[in-house]
Amino acid sequence: MAYTSIELTCGEGIATLTFNRPKALNALNTILLEEFADALESIKKDESIRVLILTGSGEKAFVAGADITEIVTLTPLGAKKFAQRGQDVIGRLQALAIPAIAAVNGYALGGGCEMALACDFIYASDKAIFGLPEISLGVIPGFGGTQRLPRLIGANRAKEMIFTGKHLTAVEAKEIGLVNKIFAPEELMAAANETAKLIAGKGKASLCAAKQTLNQGLNADLVTGLAIERDAFALCLASQDAKEGTGAFLEKRKPVFAGGLND
Ligand code: CAA
Repeated sequence: MAYTSIELTCGEGIATLTFNRPKALNALNTILLEEFADALESIKKDESIRVLILTGSGEKAFVAGADITEIVTLTPLGAKKFAQRGQDVIGRLQALAIPAIAAVNGYALGGGCEMALACDFIYASDKAIFGLPEISLGVIPGFGGTQRLPRLIGANRAKEMIFTGKHLTAVEAKEIGLVNKIFAPEELMAAANETAKLIAGKGKASLCAAKQTLNQGLNADLVTGLAIERDAFALCLASQDAKEGTGAFLEKRKPVFAGGLND
């Protein structure tokens, strides 16, 4: 599929997906969501990719939300389908086996904030602005914001953000645990790439097991979560990468993790 609204580049185990409708502040319309879903599929199929970075093109925005020009044309049933599509695509992002980093370079509002929430963690430029402003449009978040935000930052803080629709600076977003780290705008991608490189140097099987165990455990009670962890640990230990990692430690050399998900 040729992309018009996103860009996908891959190299050294890292996929970088850039939302690319800068004139509309990278707003999520149907075409962009279709292309995004297609890109996620090609990332899934590429065994060599171990980490994904999401970012936005242009100086101003990561993603300024769902495309409002499209929303205003929708009937209630059409709106339900639109939200279903957005939730489905963002759900696929969260369900990616490999880790995903959101490098938020500007506005991450509405659907853009919801996209970042489905990544494993967020790095932000000091110009980034976060918010779920749907209430100011007379609607509510429809791409998972009412569900993922309280799970990440707590119900009280999520309710304040959603009821007021207020924009948060990067510093405010970091204070409430939405953002991991803040960088100068010109340093954001280098920092995201440096962390991605560190992650891409680890074994794919253990990376995916760690992500799956964390995500499944977050939706389970502690006893169930610990059982999930035991099984995943045992499976990892049987992998080619575990032989390499433990062997390298004992031989006092750096490990080279070449195993795939089936090794
Ligand atoms: N949808 C469609 N177009 C958008 C957009 C959006 N979400 N956000 C910005 N744009 C467009 C503007 O209409 C404008 O287009 P024109 O040049 O053709 O007029 C262009 O992008 C630049 O935007 P502004 O001129 O408004 O830029 P600004 O710097 O003055 O303001 C902003 C920036 C504060 C982000 C402002 O654009 C804004 O408030 N955007 C809307 C944010 C929003 O409400 N997002 C939630 C959408 S609903 C949603 O996401 C629901 C859901 O959960 C699924």
